[in-house]
Amino acid sequence: MTVDADYLQAALINILDNAVDACLKEPHDQPPRIELTTAVQADTVMFKVSDNGVGMDHETRDRLFTLFYSTKERKGTGLGLFITKRIVEQHGGSITVESAPGKGSVFTVTLPKVPPAATAGATPEPETPKD
Ligand SMILES: Nc1ncnc2c1ncn2[C@@H]1O[C@H](COP(=O)(O)OP(=O)(O)OP(=O)(O)O)[C@@H](O)[C@H]1O
Ligand SMILES: [Mg+2]
Repeated sequence: MTVDADYLQAALINILDNAVDACLKEPHDQPPRIELTTAVQADTVMFKVSDNGVGMDHETRDRLFTLFYSTKERKGTGLGLFITKRIVEQHGGSITVESAPGKGSVFTVTLPKVPPAATAGATPEPETPKD
């Protein structure tokens, strides 16, 4: 896979950070749970982050990728998911969210195994010599 690993790691950490915040926000009946699953498909790699935290209302779901949008007051800058979305899109991928108040959230990042060369900004892997 030809990607910029540091940027993609930062993108996933932003999503995981938010999942931790969402689980800490209110006392739970259930223990907090955050799950990261990956799936390798023919042309894509998928990362899914699920949490059983506070979830989001409609307005937050609509605005969460907007620059400086945060519901965390002084604890949040609202940069995290804006940057995450930019990184994912620069690698030719996409990000989707399913969430409802009290029901937790699921973020799904889908990345092509081979990003579009013009926008990826990644160093191509060296060719494997064939004998
Ligand atoms: N897993 C989640 N559960 C509930 N709400 C979330 C979740 N992820 C994001 N959000 C909502 O989306 C908003 C924007 O997220 P984003 O990561 O961009 O900013 P932030 O976390 O508030 O600040 P920063 O990332 O800069 O610390 C959050 O303030 C929160 O309301
Ligand atoms: Mg954040």
